[in-house]
Amino acid sequence: MNVLIVGSGGREHALALKVKESHKLENLFIAPGNAGTSFIGKNVNLNPSDHKEIIDFCKTQGINLVVIGPEKPLAEGLADNLAENNIPVFGPRKNAAQIESNKAFAKNLMKKYGIPTAEYKVFKKQDYINAVTYAKSISYPVVVKASGLAAGKGVSICYTALEAENAIKECFEYNVFGDAGNEIVVEEFLEGQEFSVFAVASGTDYIVLPPAQDHKRIGEGDTGKNTGGMGAYAPTPFITDEILQRVKTEIIEKTLNALKSEGREYSGCLYCGLILTEEGPKVIEFNCRFGDPETQVVLPLLEGDFLDLLYSVASGNINKAAVKYNGGAALCVVTASKGYPGKYEKGFEIKGLEKINDPDIQIIHAGTKAVNGKIFTNGGRVLNIVAIDGEGNLRYCKEKAYASLLKVKYEGIYYRKDIGSKAL
Ligand code: AMP
Ligand code: GLY
Repeated sequence: MNVLIVGSGGREHALALKVKESHKLENLFIAPGNAGTSFIGKNVNLNPSDHKEIIDFCKTQGINLVVIGPEKPLAEGLADNLAENNIPVFGPRKNAAQIESNKAFAKNLMKKYGIPTAEYKVFKKQDYINAVTYAKSISYPVVVKASGLAAGKGVSICYTALEAENAIKECFEYNVFGDAGNEIVVEEFLEGQEFSVFAVASGTDYIVLPPAQDHKRIGEGDTGKNTGGMGAYAPTPFITDEILQRVKTEIIEKTLNALKSEGREYSGCLYCGLILTEEGPKVIEFNCRFGDPETQVVLPLLEGDFLDLLYSVASGNINKAAVKYNGGAALCVVTASKGYPGKYEKGFEIKGLEKINDPDIQIIHAGTKAVNGKIFTNGGRVLNIVAIDGEGNLRYCKEKAYASLLKVKYEGIYYRKDIGSKAL
């Protein structure tokens, strides 16, 4: 099988590594990819927003499966265009991808179908005064979210009425998030442990992968700005089988059925961002794709043929037995560039990776670039050091990951020192 993975982050490198395990794989392409993917497949310089370019490439290379990593091309309808050209694709159609690209739509869907989530109201620009009045009427903290895609930055947690008013102004008056902030969701703050569950789904048929926990804030102890994710581990010891069962019946099944009823049948990975509240699991957000960095810790815990799973979903008939949990654990620490998630510089040489020779460590690249045999930083999130233990010992993973990190050097390297603490 010839496979094209669209994207350039850690998630895409992790997907490429896993797909590579399949004996069904012939040629692997990644568009545009990073330094890490160039070592295991062929990077091709295609623009994920140029659908014609991607379709032409698939036709000339005889691509049998396209796996779309990031949300943007999904929200732009890349899956629809590939399917119209009879190219099998893993990833939801545009109308189903709205579960991520339109938070107002997602919240209204949850309300209509009784899926547990935070109390909320949706406001458009002309409702500015009503938005401020509503934010003042609910108990603090309140959460203000731009409805459209904002690369994880469109969410403000506000502890005072003034902060809430400011967050609303950022969307409606200062246009900080562009069109993504023309509509906002103002919602109640949910207290509890956060966790992520991937449902790999074809219509209303699905399997769940082991739950993971992301670390979204830049600073230790979950402080500072929100980022794309600074580290993750899986599985999550605080999620019992009973809670996972509730996630399936109260959230995943209801959501897949709801999307089907609305004529937006789902195909791909439904990422459930959840909080375990005193009343049970509730939805913080849905994403229409695998999570990053959760993918880096979930995929090493799967045995079987992952490519077969993706292809079966793309073909409309999921093979639920393609993979199963192998009993292990994994922990990933993300290294960033100094300044991230704000302004940062790139182009610094990365040294020391060759000194990490450990079968329990995977070095997954994100913002990296290879030039003349050397590797340079090329983004905000740079590397993912993933430690894996077949016996499921997270403490071992944490020690291994941090020991390996000491060998990695580049100017301005930053990483959190507390990944996995909540589990240990
Ligand atoms: P989102 O992009 O919607 O996942 O929001 C980013 C982060 O903000 C989440 O991972 C949570 O940590 C936090 N967050 C968002 N909504 C809520 C909420 N209603 N209650 C508590 N925390 C939230
Ligand atoms: N790790 C959060 C996300 O992928 O959106």
